[in-house]
Amino acid sequence: MKSDTAIWVQNLRKEFGSFVAVDDISLEVPTGWVFGLLGPNGAGKTTTIRMLLGLLRPSAGQVRVLGLDPYTQRGRLRQLVGYMSQRFSLYDGLTVLENLRFYGQVYGLTSAALRKRVPEVLWLVGLEGRERELARNLAFGLKQRLALAAAIIHRPQVLFLDEPTAGVDPISRRAFWDLLYDLSTQGATIVVTTHYMDEAERCQSLALIDQGRVVASGSPHELRHAPEIGEVIEVYCEQPEEALVALQGLPGLQDVALHGGVVRVLSRAVEADLPRVQEALSAAGLRTAEVAVVEPTLEEVFVACTRARPAAIRVMEAAE
Ligand SMILES: Nc1ncnc2c1ncn2[C@@H]1O[C@H](COP(=O)(O)OP(=O)(O)O)[C@@H](O)[C@H]1O
Ligand SMILES: [Mg+2]
Repeated sequence: MKSDTAIWVQNLRKEFGSFVAVDDISLEVPTGWVFGLLGPNGAGKTTTIRMLLGLLRPSAGQVRVLGLDPYTQRGRLRQLVGYMSQRFSLYDGLTVLENLRFYGQVYGLTSAALRKRVPEVLWLVGLEGRERELARNLAFGLKQRLALAAAIIHRPQVLFLDEPTAGVDPISRRAFWDLLYDLSTQGATIVVTTHYMDEAERCQSLALIDQGRVVASGSPHELRHAPEIGEVIEVYCEQPEEALVALQGLPGLQDVALHGGVVRVLSRAVEADLPRVQEALSAAGLRTAEVAVVEPTLEEVFVACTRARPAAIRVMEAAE
């Protein structure tokens, strides 16, 4: 483990009875990075995070967070990490201020430290002026920011966020990500789980998880340019449904799908597949179709990575 590594995970596994929820996951997160765990529901993201926090005991494998074993050294680690769980654990009947004070006390902040820190986090998440409002009366996007404020009240070095923006509108999501980047610029290491592709794109490094396994990892750019994934042949024509039917029958293609009136063909061998695609389009009477070769989206990368596993849930949840 390198000294600039905040999180190090080797061959991590979690079984619930005979069910394997996390199956041999290894990963490494450098200090100060925004790292994403991307995967569909049930992939094992929350279970992994809970093991990184020391809330669940691994069945096998090793974990180090800031050099500590989260399960056996949870007491020492608690002060150093923040956690925003999938269901924000706020107290609905308490005000914004009371929630922050409560979490501050849980993390051992003194009254003096709290007096200084509470206005800072309120400002950071844009909740100044709302101190006296009950958490239950806040709009969803504001609740989410309060939950973030609570998770960082003690200035954690590592922040775990489990689907922090699920159900939040795109504008609020953007603002939330700007906040995460502010925190990471200040040196915090951030691990965030998501099934939103636009969020995955914003991570510096990603692990794509499916059925408890890492099926691919790297930066979004690296993942989109991995030779084993291939490229996308886009087909523009006036009858995209017909083009779809004509191309779906072609053997050897990774994936053929319609996206907003454009047929996207995922191919591992574009040079060989491009003429075949054009021939198939001509044979179907679609001679005016235009084609272009572009890079795959992260969603297509995910599809390609899970293709070899027929039982995998291939359809990511709708982004909105
Ligand atoms: N305490 C548990 N007992 C049994 N099965 C569990 C438990 N926690 C999670 N699972 C199962 O493990 C799998 C992974 O769950 P989870 O880590 O919550 O996935 P994700 O967060 O990616 O949606 C799911 O199939 C889930 O039903
Ligand atoms: Mg989860």
